[in-house]
Amino acid sequence: MPTVYMGMSADLLHPGHVNIIRKAAELGDLTIGLLTDSAIASYKRLPFLTYEQRKSVVENIKGVARVVPQETLNYEPNLRTYKPEIVVHGDDWKTGVQQRTRARVIEVLAEWGGKLVEFPYTEGISSTQLHGSIKEVGTTPDIRRRTLKRLIDAKPIVRIMEAHNGISGLIVEHAKASSEGRTLEFDGMWGSSLTESTVKGKPDIEVVDISTRLSTLNEIFEVTTKPLIFDGDTGGKPEHFAFTVRSLERLGVSAVIIEDKVGLKKNSLFGNDVAQQQASIEDFCDKIRTGKASQVTRDFMIIARIESLILDQGLEDAITRAKAYLEAGADGIMIHSRQKSPDEIFAFCEMYAALDTDKPLVVVPSSFNAVYEHELQERGVKIVIYANQLLRAAYPSMMKVAESILTHGRSAESSELCMPIKEILDLIPGTR
Ligand code: SPV
Ligand code: MG
Repeated sequence: MPTVYMGMSADLLHPGHVNIIRKAAELGDLTIGLLTDSAIASYKRLPFLTYEQRKSVVENIKGVARVVPQETLNYEPNLRTYKPEIVVHGDDWKTGVQQRTRARVIEVLAEWGGKLVEFPYTEGISSTQLHGSIKEVGTTPDIRRRTLKRLIDAKPIVRIMEAHNGISGLIVEHAKASSEGRTLEFDGMWGSSLTESTVKGKPDIEVVDISTRLSTLNEIFEVTTKPLIFDGDTGGKPEHFAFTVRSLERLGVSAVIIEDKVGLKKNSLFGNDVAQQQASIEDFCDKIRTGKASQVTRDFMIIARIESLILDQGLEDAITRAKAYLEAGADGIMIHSRQKSPDEIFAFCEMYAALDTDKPLVVVPSSFNAVYEHELQERGVKIVIYANQLLRAAYPSMMKVAESILTHGRSAESSELCMPIKEILDLIPGTR
């Protein structure tokens, strides 16, 4: 029997998959190269099901002799390992993001006289459509919470955008761009203290209480499926933080970031322009330990945010704290800076890399905003948070419209700044 190889993601299985598996199995002994999370995340959204879940489904489909991992979108490594005589694929990859992959498959197969067999793509059933339906159905707290760790494992850098209410959550959920055939999306949301207080017309000084913030999370979670990292400010008293951790976990939040400050918290971007005090290493480690001891799930993460650079305490202090916080059980470190240049962040990255820890490093490039994600990624940063841009975009636009209506005594002049009425009526499913 000829050996047959077929690569697939098999996230949301539909009759199209079963069809092509049946046809491939008719050609010979069928090995499925199941794309790993990182192979899939390299060109599109992380699959809903984990590798293990997808594997357990696929290996039980009639006609599948075995399932092996395919670690990259590129078939070459597996083709060289298994030397199949036939590779099977749907003919939908002749165009789009997978064209180059296809061309390479043909070249490599030619080395041992293997051939590519393509079957017509099953029209009318697409995983993209199914993804859309899943978004409508929603997710569960467990699935959402777990997704951040999967993203950290699967992606070179995880891209997070702030959300402060349902509509901004929807933007993070749906915004897309494409570049070189890849679809780019935000991986998750940031529950910013700054934007959430600002949108409520309050200062960013921990005055918006935790119950209110949990209710905002609930509002966001009702209409989204992506994971969320919560800005926990100082975390409050350790005894209170223990309760916050469990409330966040219960809702399906993936991680909380707490900053090492005490007393009345002010926004970090003020630096020393306002009175702000850093916590002692001992006290902050105690808070981390209390939080870790109180969490219920394995997936939830407590990330320690270091304010040494914000408060001009220097890189040595920052890295000393990083070591201590990791030892106390922190699941990651966020280093913050209010410099225009990313130099001190880069210097910290180098020191962090020397710690040789696999716990993720998080940065928030609000001040050093000219830095590219790839520059951060190259230096070992694992999570980048865009902490306030959506709200900063909305406010000037709303103010302009308000002023225009006052100036003109009517709204016609402002309408070019506004979305059309028809569009807002169609924006939210179920409005019609
Ligand atoms: C926030 O978004 O509230 C943050 C980041 O904590 S920063 O505003 O830069 O302090
Ligand atoms: Mg904050």
